[in-house]
Amino acid sequence: MTAPHPIVPLITSLREHDLLSLGALSRQDVETLFATAAALKKDVKPYRNALDGRSVAMLFEKPSLRTRVSFEVGIHRLGGHAVYLDHSEQRLGERETIADYGHNLERWVDAIVARVYKQTILAGLSDASRVPVINALSDLHHPCQALADYLTLREKFPKRAWNDIRLAYVGDGNNVCHSLVELGAILGVHVTVLTPPGRNPSTPIMKQCAAFAAKSGSTIKVSHDLSDIAGHDAVYTDVWVSMGQGRETDRIRELFKPFQVNANLMGLASRGLSGGQRSLFMHCLPAHRGSEVTDEVIDAAESVVFDQAENRMHAQMALLVHMLCG
Ligand code: CP
Ligand code: NVA
Repeated sequence: MTAPHPIVPLITSLREHDLLSLGALSRQDVETLFATAAALKKDVKPYRNALDGRSVAMLFEKPSLRTRVSFEVGIHRLGGHAVYLDHSEQRLGERETIADYGHNLERWVDAIVARVYKQTILAGLSDASRVPVINALSDLHHPCQALADYLTLREKFPKRAWNDIRLAYVGDGNNVCHSLVELGAILGVHVTVLTPPGRNPSTPIMKQCAAFAAKSGSTIKVSHDLSDIAGHDAVYTDVWVSMGQGRETDRIRELFKPFQVNANLMGLASRGLSGGQRSLFMHCLPAHRGSEVTDEVIDAAESVVFDQAENRMHAQMALLVHMLCG
């Protein structure tokens, strides 16, 4: 008989709960989740049957490489089964109501992973189904990405307190940025957001982050002044135009060009770090090389983008274990 998987303690805010954003998690919850992810990464064997007999529906309105593969492979490694539902042609709510869709799914599967255009669709799915719904990217949040990102920072700075880590996000103030700031504020990381004028993160989300930051000792700063990038342990960027928001026009290129993460900006970010430390480079991917980041930066030794991509799987496996087991 296989020994029971060692999940101690269970995270009650995750057990059978949705993950539409990260706001319900405490710092301790995230630490516990990262400990599980680290254990899974080291040796998956004790967890091989954690999702035995469990099925997860994975519905995607938008394209994906990392999210789809990391969830599917992760679920398989835990002994569960993933069902992919392609909604690229037919958006949710078109063939039948979101409520009917959710009421069907809850009869068959144990969790729903959903990549959607609108956060409100996730809320509708959550209302309609008893099983947990995991946000796999919406217009407002990308919680699974942020979990993998801070897991990566934990690995890169194993001895640092969260309050001793400074992260700069450069680019568009939307989904990836929101989740990055949200989790940073919960953990106590100092986050500087540098956006072009008119591309600030959402005010209500930043207000909520400020409340988390007041509790954790984090500082959150939103600025248009690139000189504020000095002295950050890591620099993070994302595409200039998100999926479903059109294409990279000349106007967009003009607006974002000063915010391109190139060797010069990385040099500025490293300024003031002690002991000759150089800032890490982070990106959720896919990257548009030559736009938001240069080849030189994404291919440099300081780039941790593929560690982030790998950690998507470990963080999500930990998430599913805490959500569905116990
Ligand atoms: N970072 C991320 O979510 O990648 P995909 O769009 O490929 O899933
Ligand atoms: N902001 C990007 C993230 C992709 C993972 C988008 O929404 O397309």
